[in-house]
Amino acid sequence: AKNVGILAMDIYFPPTCVQQEALEAHDGASKGKYTVGLGQDCMAFCSEVEDVISMSLTAVSSLLEKYNIDPKQIGRLEVGSETVIDKSKSIKTFLMQIFEKYGNTDVEGVDSTNACYGGTAALLNCVNWVESNSWDGRYGLVVCTDSAVYAEGPARPTGGAAAIAILIGPDAPIAFESKFRGSHMSHTYDFYKPNLASEYPVVDGKLSQTCYLMALDSCYKNFCAKYEKFKGKQFSISDAEYFVFHSPYNKLVQKSFARLVFNDFLRNASSIDEAGKEKLAPFATLSGDESYQNRDLEKVSQQVAKPLYDAKVQPTTLIPKQVGNMYTASLYAAFASLLHNKHTELAGNRVILFSYGSGLTATMFSLQLNEGKYPFSLSNIANVMNVAGKLKARHEFPPEKFVETLKLMEHRYGGKDYVTSKDCGLLAPGTYYLTEVDNMYRRFYAKK
Ligand code: ACO
Repeated sequence: AKNVGILAMDIYFPPTCVQQEALEAHDGASKGKYTVGLGQDCMAFCSEVEDVISMSLTAVSSLLEKYNIDPKQIGRLEVGSETVIDKSKSIKTFLMQIFEKYGNTDVEGVDSTNACYGGTAALLNCVNWVESNSWDGRYGLVVCTDSAVYAEGPARPTGGAAAIAILIGPDAPIAFESKFRGSHMSHTYDFYKPNLASEYPVVDGKLSQTCYLMALDSCYKNFCAKYEKFKGKQFSISDAEYFVFHSPYNKLVQKSFARLVFNDFLRNASSIDEAGKEKLAPFATLSGDESYQNRDLEKVSQQVAKPLYDAKVQPTTLIPKQVGNMYTASLYAAFASLLHNKHTELAGNRVILFSYGSGLTATMFSLQLNEGKYPFSLSNIANVMNVAGKLKARHEFPPEKFVETLKLMEHRYGGKDYVTSKDCGLLAPGTYYLTEVDNMYRRFYAKK
């Protein structure tokens, strides 16, 4: 199979959300901390009738319907998620309900988990499958689904929720340059979920920021080395039109891109002009460790990077700023933002993606875009996802209601023998929702 990659996508996020400006005031944080400091506008959250299973059921059935895909044509289905509902039964098996109905049970793949990286593991598996000898000619389907919630405290405004479905096959408008991948994996305790009685992670916020940037540096180095090996020339940020980052909050994305600019400066790459070189020169001799803690470097490199950030990164930031950290779905929601904003002018472009999952696992990889053929065309993908329409149809809730919902979910987490309100008034037609968890912990969903 040639030009294997993304044929189609759809995204779902809950219509329930809270404005960061209101949350800031409610939490007693200084004005501007969440909106300017973290760079976030709004945050989606699951109400008591939604969870990662209902969101993924919605995303998958919507994708199949809107691109007119026969469910029998799916040969592999992989889910990435870090939201644990069951320690054994995969989310993938819940999604099999959709395929069994059409007589298709011949579907490989299960769930992948490592913080926000599970979706990328699932995606690489599906791409590898289509590129491999075991491919049976059918489509691969990747689902990223997460509800990101934090205990009360500084991490709480960095939550979010969404599910994304991604169809994989040959001759794709969004093709993988599979030779160019750089990974970095290591053992860290920056963010993890050791307490199985709670949905909330244990998080060392400052450490997670440094781990993220160190992983980025290492992946970029490995990525550049592979590119140079196969292309015989140096890679720099000038060689890609767009850079898409896993987006826990926008400020970290700004810092990440500035870090790539600093890397290019250190590598003496052609992307940095004379004025930029002059500004960055005082930092050339910092050790790696010092460079992560140096606030002046952070400021100056962001300044040097600003025009490039506006051109190469800003168009990818819409959904992550509006919906929040969607964990496994976050990177692909950033990519969906790019398709939404620029779908008419992306043909011929290269897009670099950086995936990070705490703990930690990270990969940088490259996509090559062409217009494609309907229904698998960039413009149709943008049209189907209807990002603007979905954002507009949301309902803002006051912070009190958000906090109240999280309290209820804390109480229900791991519980059994309850029925939900079944209130689907805010949900769009076609949305799945949770109706009941019975005394055997079995979960039941309905479709609006
Ligand atoms: N106006 C403008 N900016 C402000 C204001 C204000 N009133 N107050 C603070 N700020 C700025 C700070 O200067 C800082 O920006 P800087 O980093 O550019 O200096 C930013 O707002 C955040 O303020 P901090 O004091 O650093 O925030 P705090 O430590 O309270 O929390 C954190 C931030 C650590 C990111 C927390 O939200 C968290 O732990 N989140 C979860 C972990 C996470 O997402 N890690 C990322 C990678 S791992 C993953 O994806 C889960």
